[in-house]
Amino acid sequence: MVSEIRLFATAEYTTQAQSYQTVLAERGVSTECVEIEQLNARFLRQHPELALCLDHEGLWLSAEGMKMQPDWRGETSRLKRASLKSELLARACQLAEKPKLIDATAGLGHDSLLMAHLGAEVILVERHPILLTLLEAAQAQAAQDPYLAETAARMSLVFADSQEYLEQCVSEQIQVDVVYLDPMFPQRDQNSNKKQALVKKQMQLLHLLLADDGHMDLGDSLLEPARQIAKRVVVKRPRLAVNLADVTPDHQWLGDACRFDAYFK
Ligand SMILES: C[S@@+](CC[C@H](N)C(=O)[O-])C[C@H]1O[C@@H](n2cnc3c(N)ncnc32)[C@H](O)[C@@H]1O
Repeated sequence: MVSEIRLFATAEYTTQAQSYQTVLAERGVSTECVEIEQLNARFLRQHPELALCLDHEGLWLSAEGMKMQPDWRGETSRLKRASLKSELLARACQLAEKPKLIDATAGLGHDSLLMAHLGAEVILVERHPILLTLLEAAQAQAAQDPYLAETAARMSLVFADSQEYLEQCVSEQIQVDVVYLDPMFPQRDQNSNKKQALVKKQMQLLHLLLADDGHMDLGDSLLEPARQIAKRVVVKRPRLAVNLADVTPDHQWLGDACRFDAYFK
């Protein structure tokens, strides 16, 4: 897990950068704020190491010239096209029923955003302190956006390890309609179709951030506590991937690049 990172910001954003520095310190990440003149492509090429950046586009992560941010505003056109019928995710999670749902592997929050947009009340659980901070920044931006504000209000963020969070729900006898799981999956095992196997740049950076210690948690241990508290558990997998925790699902929805496995109570 990254425990030290630089935060590049231009002069007008240094105060905000210091607030992020405080928040990240509370979450165990030490940040060195660096004031710079211009945050542009040339600067990013010259600083290929993993770093946080703050500018008019908000807080984002950069590495090897790539940029990563939970791009909720960029998802707007997808949200406008999305419907309960057209989205496999909506069918798998029965979003028509407006479920209470825990997304136990929040990541960039894009799946959660879609689920909340289509009616779910979503609790997003993320254990990575930098990702959680990026998600908070995205939610604050979305709250100011006329199209996204209502959706963002149906999303709550929790900084926790999901296994502990789900086990806590079990012990407190908390029940939800759906637990959604989309754990990381090694890129080499993804569908071999070239177009589909081209993990988006954002995902590459996510892999870089999360697998920095060479270890990737495949999330097998989340299935059991999830099944105890939810009427249905939905797991997103690359289309040809093995089942989560080697447990055969009760139902599958197959897409071009990925599939959704459902486990019913
Ligand atoms: C593949 S990403 C999820 C992408 C997400 N579905 C989206 O739409 O952006 C997996 C995320 O789950 C998080 N994660 C994995 N295991 C977790 C756990 N036990 N507790 C909390 N977060 C976890 C990782 O840190 C990572 O951010």
